[in-house]
Amino acid sequence: SAHQWQAPSPTDSRGPCPGLNTLANHGFLPRNGSNITIPVVLNAINDGFNFQPINLLRIGAKLGLLTTDAEDSFSLNDLALHGTLEHDASLSRNDYALGDNIHFNETVFTTLANSNPGVDYYNITSAAQVLEQRLAEDKIVNPTLINTVKELTVRIVESGFYLSVMGNVTTGVAPKNFVQIFFREERLPLEEGWERSEVPIGEDNFDTLLSEITNVTTWAPSGEVICPWIRLQP
Ligand code: HEM
Ligand code: MG
Repeated sequence: SAHQWQAPSPTDSRGPCPGLNTLANHGFLPRNGSNITIPVVLNAINDGFNFQPINLLRIGAKLGLLTTDAEDSFSLNDLALHGTLEHDASLSRNDYALGDNIHFNETVFTTLANSNPGVDYYNITSAAQVLEQRLAEDKIVNPTLINTVKELTVRIVESGFYLSVMGNVTTGVAPKNFVQIFFREERLPLEEGWERSEVPIGEDNFDTLLSEITNVTTWAPSGEVICPWIRLQP
């Protein structure tokens, strides 16, 4: 069917976002991962995930345009431009300074994969712990680590993404196997029983989830870059 999972071909554009890669692998976004406009990406997110086009997604999509010289579209690979949306201490990709900030990396992903031991789900507390642990790991290996409030904000949003889209936006609980398939295979775990959120993910419930993650994070800025900045062009 139109939305069957299909592995990308070597010429298809994929990038550092497992969410958008997954939408492309299922044909909610163009399967070639290119020429993505703001309406196209917002519609795909709504169709695939029942995630409404809230301000936060609009801003994210607009920032995506800064990662390319094209005037009104981006490719999934463009999004890897370090310092616009792409940041250090990712959940499933290495830091830019350490080599490959685009492709899934099982070693990096181990921290999230092994979190919340003893149960079969991730939740708000485990997500916050993973954010802190990834940062601690990176402080050891990346002398150029950038960790300002901007990076923290984006990282919290991304944790909210996997908890709500693979799990439940209201409880913040997401089955481990769904989250792992999403990251490792960039596939919707439909055969495993995943269903698109019944409740629309929107401004109110998503903001609440983000506050809850924020509240259990003991974060402090670190490194030489203290003031948040956004890279405006390639
Ligand atoms: C990460 C772009 C929407 C899930 C990223 C990254 C970019 C990006 C550039 C890389 C950041 C990094 O880890 O260094 C976008 C844009 C979006 C969008 C432009 C649309 C406006 C979504 C949605 C989901 C999602 C709807 C839902 C599942 C994630 C996750 C990560 C991520 C979980 C973290 C990956 C990691 O830390 O390894 N996104 N994204 N994104 N995105 Fe998206
Ligand atoms: Mg990154």
